[in-house]
This record gives sequence, structure tokens and C-alpha cells, in this order.
Amino acid sequence: MTHELMSPARRLMARLDAFAAFTDDPPKLTRLYLSDAHRRAAAQFIAWARESGLEARIDPAGNVVARYEGARAGAPALMIGSHIDTVRDGGRYDGNLGALAALAVVEDLARRGERLETAIEIVAFGDEEGVRFPRTMTGSRAFAGLIEEGWLEQEDVEGVRMREALAAFGGAPDQLAAMRAVGVVAFVELHIEQGPALEAEGLALGVVSAINGATRLAATVVGLAGHAGAVPMALRRDALAATAEMILGVERRARAGDELVATVGRLDVEPGAVNVIAGLTRFSIEVRGPRDEPRRRAVADIAAELEAIAARRGVTLTLAPTHEAGAYICDPKIVAGLSAAVQAIGQTPRLLPSGAGHDTMIMGQLCPAGMLFVRCKGGVSHNPAESITEADCELALAALTRFVRDFRIV
Ligand code: GLV
Ligand code: MN
Ligand code: MN
Repeated sequence: MTHELMSPARRLMARLDAFAAFTDDPPKLTRLYLSDAHRRAAAQFIAWARESGLEARIDPAGNVVARYEGARAGAPALMIGSHIDTVRDGGRYDGNLGALAALAVVEDLARRGERLETAIEIVAFGDEEGVRFPRTMTGSRAFAGLIEEGWLEQEDVEGVRMREALAAFGGAPDQLAAMRAVGVVAFVELHIEQGPALEAEGLALGVVSAINGATRLAATVVGLAGHAGAVPMALRRDALAATAEMILGVERRARAGDELVATVGRLDVEPGAVNVIAGLTRFSIEVRGPRDEPRRRAVADIAAELEAIAARRGVTLTLAPTHEAGAYICDPKIVAGLSAAVQAIGQTPRLLPSGAGHDTMIMGQLCPAGMLFVRCKGGVSHNPAESITEADCELALAALTRFVRDFRIV
């Protein structure tokens, strides 16, 4: 079947499959911010947008943006979209679904020649996962005017600075700090749920009520490398053994806290040899929760506990904050609008919180923002087994289209 004859949902699923080929590490799907795969994916996104007659471009932050003009030229815009970067060995729907669905919604309007009260701006954010550079959500932060000093000087593990990577990608690093989206009156993101609630309740769609806040820290432990055979146990300053105790401390604190989750997801060990006591480790710490105060308290407790472990074991600990995003209560009018759209297509508008972070929580500092969730198989995400059905995709497109059509500036 040619693309033109497919239903919008089938075409979207086919595009998501094709899009998954843009990877830096085949056959796995790994597409980090400003990488070669990201550049190729962005070019494909732009090509698809232009096929529908949209003006599309890469903005200074490396987002892909496309505009579908409203009935009146220069009308304020409803922005819809999601991110097209992925985690390492990720799934094909996290982010990509919402970015390509935004394009599908607008293509449908364009095919019918339908113009709305607002313009629609489509966005494919490039830096939602925060896997490449320590700090994250560069694209949405730029829209919200929240780029902090020194942002462009951060380096990836290979020592590549964001400034050079962004310039090579086609962004405009010198314009980043002065960016702030104008004329965007609301933002809505369609995304897979990444958890099991909708599936457990037999529901295809959910409307997000709030997004958990998150703190990320980069930890470095320095001990003393030495001969694994010659240094007695009592005289060691083993950075890895200290780190092991610290990781369990992180886990213990999160378990003791109501609604909190904490994760150490990355650990590098130096020199990393079978017969050498570890002299240095670097690891990530992430703490998330729906309420900012208890989360911040947990972060402070974790820092104190890790310092105590370091002192007891004679190693030094450095903790550098890399990401801080407060919990976001989705805008009540957007929540109501999405709920009405879900109801209008004959589905139950189930409200649910998001444990995962999203650009929506940053966009919410620019304008009213909200999210629509689609059920994903087994609640599995950040995993190549991520899966959704075409039937759910059809419902998601219908609900998002309905929302867009009914959206009014208030
Ligand atoms: C993004 O997926 C995040 O919540 O880390
Ligand atoms: Mn995502
Ligand atoms: Mn993700």
C-alpha cells in the first residue's frame, strides 16, 4: 500500500518503524542529542514536514520546528510535539510517537485545507533524555528562556563541548541564551505512558494530571588505586567498595520515602582491572517524586549519608548537581480540554500522574501545558521491547486532533 492510501495511524506506525533506523549504534536504537543519527533523523523530519507544505527548520537549540499557519496569518500558536532523542538501546515510541503524531495531525488538517483559529507549531525536541550531556532539556529550556550560564560549556564523556556539537548540528549556540518562544499560547505533548496503569485498567488513553520532579547529581569518589594482592584489607581506600555502600544508601533512602524513587543508573570505574583496587568511580544519582519538598529533603539526606560513608572509608566524594526540575501540575484548562477530547471520541478520560520526566514540565514555565498518554505494552519503556498498537495510535491521533480543533485561546 502506498503511504497516501494508508490510514493516518498506519502511516504513523510505518513512519515510526522507518524512523527507528536513525541510530548511532545499529541494530540498537541509540540517538543522542546532536549526534549523527539525530542530525539524520531531524533531516528526515524536516523532509516529511515539507512534503505537507509546512515550513520546517532547525532552531538555535537543535529542535526541529514547523509551522502550520492559522486562518489568520501570524496568529498565536498552539505548540504540539515531543522529543526525537532516545536513551541508549531504547524503544521507538518514547518521544518519537508524539513528535511524529504532531506531524500526522497537521498533515491531516493540511490535506483537508482546514485552518484553525490558532496556528499549530510542531516541535521535535532534541534533548529530553539527558543521556549525552550532564544537563538536559536544552530545547524546551530555550523556549522557556531558561538557559543558564555555562550551559554551552558542558562536555560529553568524550570531551566534546555542547557549543561545538550544536554548531556542527546546524543550531546557533550564540543565540541560545537569548531564546524565548514568542506567540506560543499553549503546549501539548502526546507520549507513551511508560508505566502499566492504563493497560491494567484496559484503557487506551490517559490524561496526565502532574509530572514528577527530578534531581540528578554527578558523583565522583576518589580513593587510592593499589595492588589487589599486596594491600591488606584494613589499609585500603577502595573507591568501588565505598561506592557500593553509597548506592545501597541511595536505595534505602528512597525506600523510606513516601512516593520517592531513586536510581543509580551509570557507574564508571577506574582503572577497571581485575588486579587493581579501584581508585576512582563516577556515577549518576537520580531522585524523583511528585512533591518537591520531600524530594529535596531526600536529596539532602542522601548527600549527608554519602559524605558519612566517604569519611568512614577514607575516600573523597564530590557531588555536582546536573539537573533540577520541579514537579509540574498540568494546566487545569489543558487537562479539561484533553479530557473532553478523549470523551468526545468515546474513551474514558482517566487522569494519571507521570513518573517519567517530559519537556512539558519545562514548557509549563512558558505557557499552559499538558499531556496525553497512550497505553504501552506491559508498561515497558526505555527498552527495545517498547510497544503500542495501531488501534491505540488511531485513538490517540483522533483525541489529539479533536483537542487541536477545539482549542481556543482564553
Ligand atoms: C525521560 O525519559 C526521563 O524521565 O528520564
Ligand atoms: Mn520521553
Ligand atoms: Mn525517555
